[in-house]
Amino acid sequence: MAKRTLIAYQSKNGAAAKTARIVAEVLRTEFGHEVEVVDLKENKNPDLSGFDNVVIGSGIRIGMWYGRARGMMKRDFTGKKLAVYVCAMRAEGKPEDVVKAWNDYLQKRIDRWMKRVRPVAQAAFGGWYKSEDDPNDNNHDPDKVRAWAAELGRRLAAPADGNPVAWSAS
Ligand SMILES: Cc1cc2nc3c(=O)[nH]c(=O)nc-3n(C[C@H](O)[C@H](O)[C@H](O)COP(=O)(O)O)c2cc1C
Repeated sequence: MAKRTLIAYQSKNGAAAKTARIVAEVLRTEFGHEVEVVDLKENKNPDLSGFDNVVIGSGIRIGMWYGRARGMMKRDFTGKKLAVYVCAMRAEGKPEDVVKAWNDYLQKRIDRWMKRVRPVAQAAFGGWYKSEDDPNDNNHDPDKVRAWAAELGRRLAAPADGNPVAWSAS
């Protein structure tokens, strides 16, 4: 039977939304998943029943997760496989920024909020401040998202082994 995957994201500028669409496309076309993409602005509490996997995505502003994505991170995912990503300009910045984005925006939040079920994959991607169309303002890399989604698809097909796939923007 096809795996059922929920991708729940919150985005203000659009990068986390675009990331969700790319991940959905890869999981559908390359791994045959049935994927539902939910914008948490429209539905802050999506029904998790029936899903094998949950992917949570958030943009980052002033170092913080968006509120509804934060709420989503704190739910009970027992019996499901999880993946988490953030979109933040610093994730594609100077080396010290990349490390900071990974540690502060991703790892610390996972450690604090996801004590029961650990993600099988996690990632920090770039974004844009004002305009996706301005190359000087956009450091979101769709190919990097596609590569991560393919690794995620492989991970979701494998038996749980408790080892998250580390994927940084460096
Ligand atoms: C008001 C504001 C604050 C921001 N603060 C940060 C920040 O602290 N760290 C960072 O890496 N990026 C920061 N950014 C860049 C965002 O991470 C970027 O806009 C990203 O695309 C947000 O995700 P979204 O497009 O899904 O909303 C900020 C952007 C705005 C507009």
